[in-house]
Amino acid sequence: MERFWHSRGAICFPGLGYICSWRVVDSVVVVTLSGDGSVNLADSPFLRACRQEPASHVPVWFMRQAGRSLPEYKAVRGEGTILAAIQDPERAAEITLQPVRRYGVDAAILFSDIVTPVFAVGFGIDITPGVGPTCEQPFATSADLERLRPLDPETDLAFQAETVRTLVAELTIPLIGFAGGPFTLASYLVEGKPSRDYAKVKALMMGQPDLWHQLCDRLADLAIGTLTNQVENGASAVQLFDSWAGALRPEHYREYVQPHSTKVLTAMADLGVPRIHFGINTGELLPQIAEAGADVVGVDWRTPLSDARQRTGGKVALQGNLDPALLLAPTDVLEREVRRVLDDNGGHPGHIFNLGHGVLPQVDPDQLLRVVEIVHAEGRTDGAAS
Ligand code: CP3
Repeated sequence: MERFWHSRGAICFPGLGYICSWRVVDSVVVVTLSGDGSVNLADSPFLRACRQEPASHVPVWFMRQAGRSLPEYKAVRGEGTILAAIQDPERAAEITLQPVRRYGVDAAILFSDIVTPVFAVGFGIDITPGVGPTCEQPFATSADLERLRPLDPETDLAFQAETVRTLVAELTIPLIGFAGGPFTLASYLVEGKPSRDYAKVKALMMGQPDLWHQLCDRLADLAIGTLTNQVENGASAVQLFDSWAGALRPEHYREYVQPHSTKVLTAMADLGVPRIHFGINTGELLPQIAEAGADVVGVDWRTPLSDARQRTGGKVALQGNLDPALLLAPTDVLEREVRRVLDDNGGHPGHIFNLGHGVLPQVDPDQLLRVVEIVHAEGRTDGAAS
């Protein structure tokens, strides 16, 4: 932990708490931090922005902030599959905390994956390094529905509950839980691997609509079980990642996907936490993404925040939307583009700064640190909330 600052007479480690005790062991100072829930998370800049309320600064976190761009991630990730690391609460909690310590971001995101619940019910899915989720036997017929049995969170996701509880005990910023959206998860199950054209999944969706809706209903139940498990154990917000939904035209999204996302997001409303709904290439779908029941809509870099606000009728907060490739540009170019995103938001209180998609593995962590510095120093939330 190299980075800390003095605050209110105590030494504060960004996102992790204040020193409440210290001792010396073998010439090393061991400190205990106060992350005991004494901080009022409801008033954190992140949760205030989710509610479109002004805050002390514009909050910022990054999708895929944990991961291969961090040397400390590579050090603890281990040789096994990523799903093995996810099922190890101590390792998963440590990986979740790494970007919080390094960047001083305003929210942590649970280290897990969108396929975790599908894996947990034994569908037969893995994550192949450098490729993504893969299934040896993709979903093809109604017989495959049996491979998606109902989730029993207490047994299937006990590791996740433990990771979340460990994190919540340590963090002084909100923890975001997440699940995969119906189209994105179905795309991996039906295609059996990442796809460019989504040909198989679209063929099933439009050619066998009854089977499609049965599949998505099961995927929605898995998402609800996962997210409920995360929130009941202390997550402060949830994000539904329907990353690839932008491959659909709005009428098809409305007919085949939106009812299932609405089911998930409506179930989350009962739990009382903000719901972020995200996909890339969704400029044309933003009204429906919001309408499905989001408090915050994720926007990718193709749509200016000012346009996104109009398309969503000002009813939701926005999260985004720096092009992740800009993190590979010279720092002065990056700085200019960060300021452009802030300007485009125009001081509206409902803005959570993020990338338009995840951090790329080859990014220099110092570039992300610079983004956080600028957003915290220059982002303002005094514009009109309309
Ligand atoms: O954001 C975070 O820091 C939290 C962790 C997180 C991971 N996956 C860990 C991970 C989150 C939020 C996800 C979500 C996820 N997983 C999505 C939605 C977000 C998005 O990117 O659109 C999707 C589509 C997946 C599926 C998936 N998992 C892909 C496409 C890959 C990349 C495969 C590769 O090796 O390039 C994964 C693997 C994965 N999930 C990694 C991480 C850190 C990298 C592989 C590793 O470290 O072994």
